[in-house]
Amino acid sequence: MQNEQPIVSVKNFGVEFPSGGGRFTAVNNISFDINKGEVVAIVGESGSGNSVTGLSIIQLLSEASGASMEGSIVLNIDGQSTEVTTAKKNVMSTIRGKHVSMIFQEPMSSLNPALRCGEQIAEAIQNHLGLWSSDARTEVLKILANVGLKDPEVIYNKFPSQISGGQKQRVLIAMAISCNPDFLLMAIRKLKTFEYKATL
Ligand SMILES: Nc1ncnc2c1ncn2[C@@H]1O[C@H](COP(=O)(O)OP(=O)(O)OP(=O)(O)O)[C@@H](O)[C@H]1O
Ligand SMILES: [Mg+2]
Repeated sequence: MQNEQPIVSVKNFGVEFPSGGGRFTAVNNISFDINKGEVVAIVGESGSGNSVTGLSIIQLLSEASGASMEGSIVLNIDGQSTEVTTAKKNVMSTIRGKHVSMIFQEPMSSLNPALRCGEQIAEAIQNHLGLWSSDARTEVLKILANVGLKDPEVIYNKFPSQISGGQKQRVLIAMAISCNPDFLLMAIRKLKTFEYKATL
């Protein structure tokens, strides 16, 4: 175990976006490792590059953003080393979901509004684990119960718009853990509470 490579190794990594005529630095020269079984929190002020870092680790920064990257992000998963900054899309789509999952910051925009909650998770399981649909359904109901949803059968058949914000977050967590990933990325927002005094 001592000699095991980190699951994620980020070295001298940076991201720039085009801005006006120049470049805007969103992430500047960061380095860290995440070992198997470790929980690592990236904490920073709003806009300081937390999400951009997370999205980069699973190659989900949109190409349309024109982002340019420097440094390296290596994933060591399933006996394979992958340099994420240069990996082909098909290589990353195999790794994503099956070995690495992400829970996004916005539950509202992360679920497909046109699919029932259970079906979205079943789809992920079927794609990655190759289960038959009836087995996938049983598995989904188990996972929905595991994430603390009281009535898995009912949630399974609801569309995202028909459940509460907290239930949506649990559905997203269920989806992210459904394929038993080696590594789970979570973008969580904790806003400072503040007092609002209305001036009448
Ligand atoms: N696609 C993009 N194109 C251009 N700039 C972007 C893009 N995505 C993020 N940025 C900019 O990069 C910076 C870092 O954004 P990021 O989303 O990582 O913030 P964050 O640290 O996750 O903030 P929060 O805690 O509010 O979620 C911000 O200034 C943001 O405006
Ligand atoms: Mg963020």
